[in-house]
Amino acid sequence: MPMMNEIGKQSGVPRQRLSPRLEALLVEVGRCQLLIDLCADHARLALAAVARGQAHRAVAIELRKAPLEEARRALRESPCADRILLVRGDGLDALARAESAEAGRALVIAGVGGDLAAQLLARSGDAAGAERLVVQPNRHAAEVRTWAHAHGFHLRAERAVPEGRRLHLLLSFSRAQGQDPAYADLPLELGFILGPLFLRSSESCARAHLRREEKRLRALTALRPALAAAHAVLAACIKRSWSPPRGGD
Ligand SMILES: C[S@@+](CC[C@H](N)C(=O)[O-])C[C@H]1O[C@@H](n2cnc3c(N)ncnc32)[C@H](O)[C@@H]1O
Repeated sequence: MPMMNEIGKQSGVPRQRLSPRLEALLVEVGRCQLLIDLCADHARLALAAVARGQAHRAVAIELRKAPLEEARRALRESPCADRILLVRGDGLDALARAESAEAGRALVIAGVGGDLAAQLLARSGDAAGAERLVVQPNRHAAEVRTWAHAHGFHLRAERAVPEGRRLHLLLSFSRAQGQDPAYADLPLELGFILGPLFLRSSESCARAHLRREEKRLRALTALRPALAAAHAVLAACIKRSWSPPRGGD
């Protein structure tokens, strides 16, 4: 993913200019004690979160050696180096070796397929004890929503972030008790596939995402007739002849 130049200063710490996608991820992360950046690549998100004071500490976990070496080079120049841990590892198992339990955790999994994100979450059991979970799936968002719904994470925000010709989806969850109100009065399967908050949104990028999704589902329905119901809801939602119930607002 492209690295942008450093610009400006904030409290004496160089402020990194990030892509719109990474900026949007940081907005969803908010403030936390520990940011766990899984599938971190060059750990740009973790470095920026600590440098900007959003995260007190960060752990970046990455499978491959080359990006981690680049992250280590960037870390050597960071005044926050003592609060950022880079770990080479496969999924959240690597965290057990690197971290003790701590409250105020946020977990980010960005830039990978939702199927891989869901697999990594399933393997972890409890999402590393995170209270907030932010996932940016390149595809297969339904699998992330399904995992989160079954494991006590409520959907708080769904955003479509434009970057070039792409629209990146961001799903933001927080740990909560009881039924997730985002899915109130909406068949769960439909919610998982389409995104219950996207369906309710009038924001222009969200609507653009739904239009793209409608085209994709229309093509897929020919191969997988089970998707016809989801496609019908989406098509009606786009024409505004069908609105999901307001229960999750
Ligand atoms: C496209 S990059 C995304 C980087 C960064 N999260 C972002 O959004 O810009 C995906 C990264 O996930 C890493 N990855 C894939 N499977 C992983 C796993 N099981 N554990 C840790 N990292 C993994 C890959 O090596 C790759 O660097």
